[in-house]
Amino acid sequence: MSSQSSPSYFPAEKVPPAPFVPSFGATPPSFVGRDAQIADVCERLDGDPAGSGGVQAILAPRGIGKTVMLNVIEKAARSERGWIVVVSGGFGNPVAELHKAVCKALAETGGQSVSDSQRQVTGVSAGIMGVHAVLSLAPQASVRRTSWGEDLLDDLERLAEVAAKKHSRVLISMDELHSVPLSKARQIGACLQHVVKRRRLPVVFVAAALPTIRDTLLADRRSTFMQRLTVLEVGNLNRTDVRRGIAEPIANHGCSISEDALDFAVSVVRGHPYMLQVMGERMWQAADHGRRPITITDAQTAAAGAETSLEDHLFLPTWTELSEGDKRMLAAVALSVEDAPVAAFAGAAGGVPTGSIGTHRRRLILSGMIRPAGRGRVTLAHPQIRAWLRRMISGSNDGDGGGDGIVVVMVALFLVCLVQQRR
Ligand SMILES: Nc1ncnc2c1ncn2[C@@H]1O[C@H](COP(=O)(O)OP(=O)(O)OP(=O)(O)O)[C@@H](O)[C@H]1O
Ligand SMILES: [Mg+2]
Repeated sequence: MSSQSSPSYFPAEKVPPAPFVPSFGATPPSFVGRDAQIADVCERLDGDPAGSGGVQAILAPRGIGKTVMLNVIEKAARSERGWIVVVSGGFGNPVAELHKAVCKALAETGGQSVSDSQRQVTGVSAGIMGVHAVLSLAPQASVRRTSWGEDLLDDLERLAEVAAKKHSRVLISMDELHSVPLSKARQIGACLQHVVKRRRLPVVFVAAALPTIRDTLLADRRSTFMQRLTVLEVGNLNRTDVRRGIAEPIANHGCSISEDALDFAVSVVRGHPYMLQVMGERMWQAADHGRRPITITDAQTAAAGAETSLEDHLFLPTWTELSEGDKRMLAAVALSVEDAPVAAFAGAAGGVPTGSIGTHRRRLILSGMIRPAGRGRVTLAHPQIRAWLRRMISGSNDGDGGGDGIVVVMVALFLVCLVQQRR
């Protein structure tokens, strides 16, 4: 009988893990450039809950580090103040999710929720948004059956009373606030207002969202709570912080990087935290998983792949969420022969009605795809967006794209005409 050895699929040697985390919501080994802003948020949360500081919203485009900032704030609230932290998100039914998280916190602190006789916390699961309670319904005779969200106000009051007795606070941390529908945001806001303003209980609130909520939830005149939110806009990291964010984890893990490779990497990252992690990981992998010093060649190899990651994980999801008019105007900016075309011309070239150009301009700025460039001009927020969009457009013209390609070709034609007219 011949003995046939079966092939092995796993690597012969276990590769050392990279000291970078190009993954949304993952706290990086070197968290750089945000200490002052986080301290600012914490100082406000530490103020009078019923005053101007008790409610905060961190706004930034995708991948800038909102979730990581929330995680750091939650940790600091627990370790430095001993607050009860309730982590919730804008997914699913946000009112029900918040209620579940409040009940879980009540159970952990020994408090009783209104419907304790009906529900039991059976476990805890870690999801991308944080830790969430897994609850089961244990129906019993003669008890009132309620659905999640219904007793939120009562249960939040109970939790806040537990905190008040300990001279502590409840911190509600809500990620992805932009996904919360207006009606649900009003419901949550009304509940918090009641507990804080009427009952004078110590509940503070911090949220993270895309800046687009300026035109949605924050513009809601009917929600006093939303209007009370203090907004912190977070942007790109400066060069010094990016340098440290790359060099520090490499050095701490026994590897090194040449000066020219570091300079090159910093210029590729362009201040974007997600890109920092992607570049770091790819350079590490290129240098035989940190087994030898990182060279300029490793950095150049890493850059090529890193850009694809930015396109797939940042540009594409943002593009998908844009309206048709937004897309047309953005395409016109990308196809313009000028680096920073006048917004009105780009809008017209994209076939956007004159009256709507301002709206699309604003929405594109809030989405993080363009930024104002002075004197009515706009430019792409990241230089790579231009090449990516142009490639996407030519891809759709080759027949593998959708209707967008056709629209954009029209935009290109408009633009050519426009440029000719202006000459
Ligand atoms: N200050 C920082 N220093 C270094 N890396 C960071 C920093 N902030 C965020 N990152 C990294 O950037 C990536 C994106 O972070 P995060 O998920 O918090 O962004 P986000 O703004 O919440 O994105 P989204 O809008 O898609 O939810 C992660 O890989 C994270 O480790
Ligand atoms: Mg996030």
